[in-house]
Amino acid sequence: MVKGIAIIGAGMIGAAHASAYRQYAHRFNPAPGVLHTVCDMNGMAARKLAADWGFAHVATDWKKVIADPQVDVVSVCLPNFLHTEVTLAALAAGKHVLCEKPLALSAAQARPVHEAALKATTVSGTVFNYRRIPALAEIRARVVAGDLGRPVQISVAFQCDYAADPLLPHLWRYEFAKAGPGALLDVGTHAVDMLRFLFGEVQGVVGAASKISIAERRLPLGTTSGHGHVALSDKMAAVDNDDVMTALLRFANGAQGTMTASRVAVGSGNRLTVEVMGTRGTARFTTETPSYYEMALLTEGGPTGFQRIMNRPGSPNIGGLVAVPHDSVAVGYSEWFGFMIHEFLTCIAEGRAFDNGSIADGYHTAIVLDAIQRECCNKVPPLT
Ligand SMILES: NC(=O)c1ccc[n+]([C@@H]2O[C@H](COP(=O)([O-])OP(=O)(O)OC[C@H]3O[C@@H](n4cnc5c(N)ncnc54)[C@H](O)[C@@H]3O)[C@@H](O)[C@H]2O)c1
Repeated sequence: MVKGIAIIGAGMIGAAHASAYRQYAHRFNPAPGVLHTVCDMNGMAARKLAADWGFAHVATDWKKVIADPQVDVVSVCLPNFLHTEVTLAALAAGKHVLCEKPLALSAAQARPVHEAALKATTVSGTVFNYRRIPALAEIRARVVAGDLGRPVQISVAFQCDYAADPLLPHLWRYEFAKAGPGALLDVGTHAVDMLRFLFGEVQGVVGAASKISIAERRLPLGTTSGHGHVALSDKMAAVDNDDVMTALLRFANGAQGTMTASRVAVGSGNRLTVEVMGTRGTARFTTETPSYYEMALLTEGGPTGFQRIMNRPGSPNIGGLVAVPHDSVAVGYSEWFGFMIHEFLTCIAEGRAFDNGSIADGYHTAIVLDAIQRECCNKVPPLT
């Protein structure tokens, strides 16, 4: 049974955590006050998020939240450069911790977190929410079961347009020192995790290329949250991390694949696209049509052509968690996020490891991200 949940960082993704805990925390502790604290250095943002989702307290100092004995579960939803410090402090204080991706700016920074999590008796994980998409979890099960034959090739593209408008403000995301590599660490982290989720360990990065498409942006006049427009000053600041990234990879299972990440892909919104090819079949999925994936199989009569496999009550994650688990009833971003939070709370309640998006997964993903980054510009964030 959890005592009190705290969200540290009340920006765009803090809201996804808050809404998911709101939806599921009562299953693990029906007492009021379990939604304990929202913390943000911007007190107004903390107050708004707490009020929106029914958290009892607000705070502006994350160290006080971690020292609070009434808080035993912490979601770290801060800008990338703060993840390791806060996650290490929370683990040291004996909290259960869910850290946003990327776990760290580099593998060297992620390693102490990985080691601390291995030693800890509490439950911890990295936010790899896209693993909970029912269709993708089912494709993984098919790959593992050998339904598609021997894995041959995979392509994962995470393309967004949240940074396509040059009039969006300069903020932490566009600074290498605070965000690490740009599109690569922001959405490429999800793409690399998805490659590992579906095809196993990456053995090597064969090549990579990156580009900064918008070289400078205007500084904001006030605070920022997520990817929104705000009033801008006349001062420009340089963008020093990638807007687009493409990599070619080899897998330990002998297959090969590509990873594409973009934050300036006009029209893409927030699109994850996956295509998995084996000797006997191909499966493909895009977040634009989350109710189904498509699969083609090689039969004695030749390839079947792609057939649609709809979400249904028996699809991974759907049973018991979706209010209307009927065939083809759509589930989207908030549900996928909720499935992950539900699993995290279940692991805490049952005293078992959260191993589907673990801290180890965050660390191993960081090793691949470093390798991609080195391949294209030989620049990885220093160990802090
Ligand atoms: N899992 C996903 O799909 C997903 C999606 C979006 C963002 N993220 C991750 O979530 C993290 C946060 O991203 P975001 O878009 O919510 O950013 P954001 O800028 O919207 O929010 C960050 C918040 O942290 C607060 N903050 C900064 N420094 C602080 C400090 N020292 N103490 C307390 N509060 C502080 C800011 O005031 C801000 O409200 C990033 O690491 C990002 O990669 C994950």
